Amino acid sequence: MSSLAAEYKAINLGQGFPDYQMNEELISLVNHHMKAGHNQYVHMNGLPALRNVIAEKVFGLYQRQINPDTEITITPGGTYAIYTVLTAVLQPGDEVIVFEPAYDSYIPNIEINGAVPVLIPLTYPDYKIDWNEVRKKISKKTKMIMLNTPHNPTGSVLSKEDIIQLQKIVAGTGIFIVSDEVYEHLIFDGMQHESMLRYPDLLERSFVCFSFGKIYHCTGWKLGYCIAPSVLTNEFRKIHQFNCFTCNSPMQYALADFLQHKEYYLTLGGFLQKKRDYFLELMKQTKFKPLPSHGSYFQLYSYGGLSDESEKDIAIRLTKDFGVATIPTSAFYKNGKDDKVLRFCFAKKESTLEEVVDRLLKFDIFKGDPG
Ligand SMILES: Cc1ncc(COP(=O)(O)O)c(C=O)c1O
Repeated sequence: MSSLAAEYKAINLGQGFPDYQMNEELISLVNHHMKAGHNQYVHMNGLPALRNVIAEKVFGLYQRQINPDTEITITPGGTYAIYTVLTAVLQPGDEVIVFEPAYDSYIPNIEINGAVPVLIPLTYPDYKIDWNEVRKKISKKTKMIMLNTPHNPTGSVLSKEDIIQLQKIVAGTGIFIVSDEVYEHLIFDGMQHESMLRYPDLLERSFVCFSFGKIYHCTGWKLGYCIAPSVLTNEFRKIHQFNCFTCNSPMQYALADFLQHKEYYLTLGGFLQKKRDYFLELMKQTKFKPLPSHGSYFQLYSYGGLSDESEKDIAIRLTKDFGVATIPTSAFYKNGKDDKVLRFCFAKKESTLEEVVDRLLKFDIFKGDPG
């Protein structure tokens, strides 16, 4: 959709990235560290100062003591961290529980390791986990459960009740968890982020993956980290050592400084909630129906009842003829399940969101109050 957006000069609300400038101080810090000569390889596991400040952050947020030497590894982004986990843990024939719709790297990353994704659809339209279905799908071969909260593409978040169900299901088993928490701070409506880091019985079997790109509005930086107990981190690093080995140095120095500004990440949810609400308000002029989004920077909209066109066809038509790129939610299902729902990224300037809605209003079927 991004290539099509570029070809047709459409506004790209498809791919998840902000269109506003990231923090200038953080940019200056990178520049400062480059000039100070911090341009050579840093430690394979990540700059120690950065790992220390991450451990402090985790303690502040989740009251969990993490050893920065043995339990944190800096990676080139969250996607790489997830790939590394799967490669470290999976053997051919292992089964991995994956909830759909799912971030697009999960299934190929499982399959490339010879393992088998066991797909469970989230309930529609609230995109919750059906834990009875999980119980049914667990087998002797189940090696791992993949979680993502806040969730891309739906904006749903795990609740305390989900955690209780998960705890019951994995207790006494050898099942690992990979928890994709790249939207950790992008959570709205006063909800609590249910990180695996809060729960020792879950953390002991978890690899928890994060992304600085999402926190600091710099998806192109491709830096993140993985937190896991030391025995699991050991396995993770066996893959990491001979793949990326070590990540971009000056950015790690800059992040080690900047991460100390707690207020920045603590106010991020409020900042994006305002954008979500602004977009929701603007979209009331159209007949699109919003589905609940409590986190991430995505908002799903249903056009059910307005058109029989497939999500893919309507997303292509919107891009080519009306200059608005979205993502068909069917792209996040292996079998292309089509609920007539499109994903919009609202991490954009207000003027961008306004222009998008103006363009959508030129599309006759979407014009007017949904009533
Ligand atoms: C659920 C999810 N996980 C991981 C990532 C990727 O993070 P990174 O860019 O740090 O690899 C994304 C990015 O869109 C995402 O939505």
